[in-house]
Amino acid sequence: MKMETFEMERMQSTWENVVEYDLSESGIRAVSLRELTELGFDLEEAMDTPLGYSQSNGTIELRELLTEQYPGTSIENIEVTNGTSEANYLVALVALQGGDDMALEVPNYMQLWGPPRSFGARINTFPLDFTSSWEPDWDGFERAVSEKTRLVYISNPNNPTGAVLSRDAMRRIVERCERVGAYLLADEVYIGAERERERTPSFWGMSDRVIVTSGLSKAYGIPGLRIGWMVGPKDFVTECWSQHDYITIGPNKLSDIMARTAVEPANRKRLYDRTREILRQNLKSMQEWLDGFGGFFTYTPHEAGAFYFVKYASEVPSLELVRNILHRQSTLIIPGSHLGMEGFLRIWMGGKPDFLQEGRRRIGAEIEKLPELVRGGDL
Ligand SMILES: Cc1ncc(COP(=O)(O)O)c(C=O)c1O
Repeated sequence: MKMETFEMERMQSTWENVVEYDLSESGIRAVSLRELTELGFDLEEAMDTPLGYSQSNGTIELRELLTEQYPGTSIENIEVTNGTSEANYLVALVALQGGDDMALEVPNYMQLWGPPRSFGARINTFPLDFTSSWEPDWDGFERAVSEKTRLVYISNPNNPTGAVLSRDAMRRIVERCERVGAYLLADEVYIGAERERERTPSFWGMSDRVIVTSGLSKAYGIPGLRIGWMVGPKDFVTECWSQHDYITIGPNKLSDIMARTAVEPANRKRLYDRTREILRQNLKSMQEWLDGFGGFFTYTPHEAGAFYFVKYASEVPSLELVRNILHRQSTLIIPGSHLGMEGFLRIWMGGKPDFLQEGRRRIGAEIEKLPELVRGGDL
């Protein structure tokens, strides 16, 4: 089967470096190389490093550091990849075959929509419920996860809702996966991007059906290094490594070295603290702006992630709205339709305040033109 276009990613890669205001991001404002040196990365030493191939599943040093985040693991449980997205892709390749079923929550980042379908797997979606703080719709979940399901994908904290699953919800998901014999792929790349609440617990360790993916791109604020990883049962990880050999061989050598600085426990805490601080700083102005449209936008309280996923009170399709904002205001945001849920927009809040303010002003200029917008009155 032909590979379907990854709509959101394609729209971003076409426009994010072209528009004047890119508010389509989902991670926190990126860390610079200088900031990484301030955390202890030795640039001088790196200058003399021969730029050969690196260990293809991640250097022992990096994997050893990562084992500290996942209790009970050794380096054979971990594979370092080119971003979280490569880890997700490898997991889908290994867990699924043509004719298998996969369950996918919506709304979602939607990376694992295209690849499984391209090799003949069937996807059953289950919705997260806006009216109950984005808790999974459990009836929908039970329907989507059946005896035929080989893989269930969850992003927690979730992109795009920012919601965090309760412990009970986590247990319920894991139990269902165990009952039907499916693997659970828990994409945890937003752990550490909580604004006020405590750190989101990992699914790791809840069952031998759990595979966790994560990376440096969101809560750490270092997407440019393209470092991600998976944590899973050793035999599963070994199979993923075999796929990895064929695709990219392994991660970039310098990125592996720099990643060691980022995931070192004290630095990880510093980077998470930086993320929290940026989110705190930006929250008030974001909410004031959203509320300034007199109820046109509705949203759940912010929990995690550098974005808001907001419902808007208009019949205009989200893609049309986003296109107008893009072409008339040189500003990019994400339409809900690209994330599996129409009637919503995802707007970034992880940048510098002045930049975000001007981006929002431009978005607002197009919202003002909608016939449904009646300021301060009924909609
Ligand atoms: C849930 C989720 N997983 C994975 C990715 C991709 O991450 P990476 O840049 O580490 O490949 C994203 C990017 O937006 C994401 O939102």
